Amino acid sequence: MTTLSNNSAKAQAHTNIALIKYWGKKDEQLIIPYTSSLSLTLDRFYTQTTVRFNSDNDRDSVQINGQFISGKAWQRVHDFLTIVRDLAGIHLAAEVSSTNFVPTAAGLASSASAFAALAAAASKAAGLKLSKTDLSRLARRGSGSACRSIFGGFVEWQRGTSDADSYAQPLSQVGLNDVKVIALTTESGPKPISSRQGMNRSVATSPYYPTWIKVAQHDLIDIKVAIAAGDFTKFGSISELNAMRMHALTLSADPDFTYFNSETLAIMNEVKRLRHAGIECYYTIDAGPNVKVIVQSANATKIADTFTKLLGQNRVTTLSAGPGVHYL
Ligand code: PMV
Repeated sequence: MTTLSNNSAKAQAHTNIALIKYWGKKDEQLIIPYTSSLSLTLDRFYTQTTVRFNSDNDRDSVQINGQFISGKAWQRVHDFLTIVRDLAGIHLAAEVSSTNFVPTAAGLASSASAFAALAAAASKAAGLKLSKTDLSRLARRGSGSACRSIFGGFVEWQRGTSDADSYAQPLSQVGLNDVKVIALTTESGPKPISSRQGMNRSVATSPYYPTWIKVAQHDLIDIKVAIAAGDFTKFGSISELNAMRMHALTLSADPDFTYFNSETLAIMNEVKRLRHAGIECYYTIDAGPNVKVIVQSANATKIADTFTKLLGQNRVTTLSAGPGVHYL
């Protein structure tokens, strides 16, 4: 039987918001994307996960926020743990306990922070000593966007062509230091179409998918120039445009679908209204109806107050850049 000297580890990883979106897999099994993407890791939403490999158990047990999970969600964690076990050459079952730290009613727990924390905790508990790059490659196997949550601040996931070269790294040239993200919750329930299903359908049926591959590449180059130059206006405009280009792939899929609800649209209109009134802000939206508003410190309180009046205080959270994964 395999034994491990120190078979337990605890890690914390933060969510990230994509500014240039990842939307579509070239390799479904290894999670190699069609396009590179870029994100900002956030400070106030994170996941803490403890993993212990235990020779007394014959099956992985997984608790999230104090509840044991089963079915598809369990299978996904189990499959990920099997990748870690294969890397480490062990055959022990794991006990996983994970807590998502998100403000009450925000409903913004994410697979990115979950799989980044799981990758770090499980690999250490299994006796592996992985570099940040290898952790990013491992986290990617759980959920694509998780590979970016290994690092703090602005992070680029270079799509690569294989498991070996598809991983994230922090941006080296950052002149943009004043960015805040106001997270607005419109709905807390599970999404009707997972990001996995949504992107697969977009790749398979949207006639615009080949164009997305081209424009996403240009958007990425342009936003990196804006971030290096500290050009907030260009940075915000490209983020908003790229998000809409991604969502156009859902509307042009067959059958078509959308992640927006009526509140999403109302918030988008409000952001535009504020902007026309001279208060600079931009929106971005992932695979769900919640909106993140990109602002600078000077306007953050004013804009957060505007949305608090519309949505109520517990649905508005102002975030800053956050750190990469770390052990606790
Ligand atoms: O990592 P996934 O499978 O949850 O997909 C993430 C997809 C988006 O959040 C919409 C975009 C992104 O790059 O994070």
